[in-house]
Amino acid sequence: NFFYRIKEGVFSERIAPFVLYKRKVSDMFPQTPGPIGLFDSGYGGLTIFDKIHQLMPGYDYVYLGDNARSPYGTRSFEVVYQFTRQAVSRLFESGCQLVILACNTASAKALRTIQQKDLPVWDPGRRVLGVIRPTVELVDTISRTKHIGIVGTSGTITSNSYTIEIGRMYPHIQVTGEACPMWVPLVENNEFNSPGADYFVKKHIDHLLSVDPQIDTLVLGCTHYPLLTDKIRAFLPSGITLFSQGEHVAESLRDYLRRHPEMDRKLTKGGSCRFLTTESAEKFSEAASIFMNTPVSVSQIEL
Ligand code: DGL
Repeated sequence: NFFYRIKEGVFSERIAPFVLYKRKVSDMFPQTPGPIGLFDSGYGGLTIFDKIHQLMPGYDYVYLGDNARSPYGTRSFEVVYQFTRQAVSRLFESGCQLVILACNTASAKALRTIQQKDLPVWDPGRRVLGVIRPTVELVDTISRTKHIGIVGTSGTITSNSYTIEIGRMYPHIQVTGEACPMWVPLVENNEFNSPGADYFVKKHIDHLLSVDPQIDTLVLGCTHYPLLTDKIRAFLPSGITLFSQGEHVAESLRDYLRRHPEMDRKLTKGGSCRFLTTESAEKFSEAASIFMNTPVSVSQIEL
């Protein structure tokens, strides 16, 4: 009866909006193969992009930094979800079939809702992946004491995403999270090498180790933090392993594409990199050259 009504061109009030909605969704995003999309609130995701690009230079990439609205770390679930959703939709519009949330805060607060609520409506063939799962998978092999510390934004730590994911996979591991709300602003403002950074880095390392002195592995659960590596090492007791996500996320993505040739076929391989920012393009390219040691070409967009 439903198909009969469509064939006959008889649109009741009940089915007309459905037909219009379907048409709109399928027209929204290009269906041809496209680049891999990466998203972060700002520059931090460049530490992930850098490792992915080193491992798989043949693919095309689009990186989007929402610098105008960064940091996300102290924002509510709803706001991080809405901002991330807009960014992912924009990357899909640019032709991406696969988007990596190169941001722990977005992975913690928005990934699941986007995967469960938005993707089935937008296009079930597209994929959005985060950075928390590939990080969590490896922690058991690194820690001997099975006591792990996670540093991240307030959003990532209060979401308990790491504790929940690690608890699911390795229930014998004791996880202690430490929110470091000043670390992202230090990086975004290019102050990560300044003496001012010492105070905030030491403060949080000391606090974390006072809560659990048995920690032998510190996970950098924020994509901005690799820029603070030298400072963190300076205040971290020598027996503690510093675990940075970039390489593991890159390897996990390569492995994912090997296991999903149907997705790999939807990715173009021209070796190009495009950068989009919601702030000034000039500012972005200046900062990105510090993160990546190479000049990049950037366009400003609105979300
Ligand atoms: N780079 C983001 C992360 O990995 C956080 C940055 C922010 O607070 O916006 O969590």
